[in-house]
Parts: sequence; C-alpha cells; structure tokens
Amino acid sequence: MSTYMGKRIGVIMGGPSSERDVSLNSGRGILAALEAKGYEAVAIDWKGGSDDLGAHLRREKIDAAWIALHGTYGEDGCVQGLLECYQVPYTGSGVLASALAMDKVATRRIFDQESIESPRWRRFHGPADVARIGFPLVVKPSSEGSSVGVSIVKDQSTLQAALDAAKKCHGIVLLEEYIKGREINVGILDDEALGEVEIRPATEFYDYEAKYLRNDTQYLVPAPITDSERRVLHDLAVRAHKALGCAGATRVDLILAEGGRAVCLEINTLPGMTDHSLLPKIAAHRGMDYATLVERVLDSARLHA
Ligand SMILES: Nc1ncnc2c1ncn2[C@@H]1O[C@H](COP(=O)(O)OP(=O)(O)O)[C@@H](O)[C@H]1O
Ligand SMILES: [Mg+2]
Repeated sequence: MSTYMGKRIGVIMGGPSSERDVSLNSGRGILAALEAKGYEAVAIDWKGGSDDLGAHLRREKIDAAWIALHGTYGEDGCVQGLLECYQVPYTGSGVLASALAMDKVATRRIFDQESIESPRWRRFHGPADVARIGFPLVVKPSSEGSSVGVSIVKDQSTLQAALDAAKKCHGIVLLEEYIKGREINVGILDDEALGEVEIRPATEFYDYEAKYLRNDTQYLVPAPITDSERRVLHDLAVRAHKALGCAGATRVDLILAEGGRAVCLEINTLPGMTDHSLLPKIAAHRGMDYATLVERVLDSARLHA
C-alpha cells in the first residue's frame, strides 16, 4: 500500500518557463494516472509572475506535491525550496541537487571531484581557455536546456558566433571537448537504472530542432549496445545521479564514444512525463506502465531539509 493513498496530492504544472506547454502535457498525464490508481489528485496550474504559488498551496491544502514543472523555478530548486518552507513533501530531487543539476559548471565541478567521467571542460574566460580545449569543441551556456545556445565549433571561424549565442542565454559559458559517439539517456528511479534509450538525431547533434521540431529523430529502447556497454553506462549514470544527491526519477545524458569510452553530459532532474517522453518509454520496456511509474515517483516524495 502506497504511503500517499488516501492523501491529497497536488500536481504542480505549467509554470512560467519556456517549457510551460510540455509541463502541462506531463502534468495532465500524471493527474490522470494518479486518479486511475485511486488517489485524490488536484491540478495546480501555476502561471508564474503575479500568480502566487504559495496562495495555491494554502488554498489546496495538499499532503504531497508531484512536481511536473520543467526549467526555471520548477527544476532549479526554487519550487522545491518553497515546498520545504510549507512542509509539503515533494517528488524528485531536493533544493541543492536540483540547483546543482541545473548549473552545468557546478555539475562539472562535482563530477570532477567525484570522478564521474565527463568531457574535459573549462569555463570560458578568454582565448587561453579555447586553446586548452582545442577544436573541435562544444560551446554551451551554463544554465539552459533543450540544447538552446549549444554549438559544435570546428574551427576559429565560427567560434565568436557560438560564444555570442551561448552568452545570450546565460552569462556563464562552458567549453567542452567534443566527444564523437552515440547519444544515450539512462533513466534512473530511486538510485537504480531503469534502462536506456539511444537517440539518433538526423541533424548533426541532438539540437533543439531534433528534440522538438523534427519527426525523423530515432529513439531506440533498449539501445542496441552490448551488455558490457550497458553495465558501464548504467553504472556511470547511477554514480552521477548519486554524486549530485538526486532523488526520485532522473534522466542522465551520456555519450558512448568509439572505443567504449562513456561520458556523462548532464542530469535532468525533472524528465518529461508526456506519453511520448523518454523516461516512460524506458520504464515501459521494463514492464512498468506509465501509471505505475507515476505512483513509484510519488512514493519517493519527501522533505529534504
Ligand atoms: N561534449 C560534447 N560532445 C559531443 N556532443 C555534445 C557535447 N555536449 C553536448 N553535446 C550535444 O548537445 C546536446 C545538448 O547538450 P547538453 O549538455 O545535454 O545540454 P542541454 O541541457 O541543452 O540538453 C547533447 O544532447 C549532445 O547532442
Ligand atoms: Mg541534455
């Protein structure tokens, strides 16, 4: 019997970020799944700005929150902090892990310290940093998502435009060694790997277009990899998830390079939960249907402070 059966669950969705529509889709799916499982669930569509999330929480008097937000506020620890103050247990990672995962420079500092394999990187200050990484390299903003502001730079001629694009998103810019390889996402639930998906974009890399606009991106579940590659990738993803102190469900972005080297790019602490999102696909392959995944995530809801 689940801890939260008989309790009132608020599904917090929408939010003011650029991913509002995706979040509403995730939220509606989660709400329906909770209701189908017999929970008393209520939608909290937070619009941001002058729409006071605290007022929603006071009005709805929920016993736990299923956070279905993405991006700024929902994914970066802000909403988590508010829920801590209101003493409402919530799904997923706590304040610190959420904030760390949202910030790629902070993530990489922890990865380096904890020996989590990732591409060589530097925070961009000037040309000396470019020389230290060398071409080809990847330029990305420290805090964004959806591949916005990310470029692969092969030589000096396109460097400035890439730096400008990344700076426009966020003042802090990262340079990374470009790793040629296969793009793998591992789904994690409660500190264990659920499975993985290989993403094969038709574009040069898994950019915004490939993520949201094109229908020729291929998603292979399970990834066609060997058992030993699978073990390496799952182990790396779980270690990365634990290094940042994440909780509940996360999706870890990795690259499997030629020669078997595996690197971790980042951790998404609020993976999409629409019916065609990657985490539900990974869970389904394991025999865990969408509603059960939603319930398992709910069971992980707690306070972290
Ligand atoms: N070091 C790298 N080497 C090769 N490709 C990369 C590298 N970093 C990012 N990419 C490509 O860019 C995409 C987005 O980068 P990522 O760090 O995951 O940022 P975002 O938060 O925008 O998803 C990745 O999915 C991958 O296709
Ligand atoms: Mg990513």
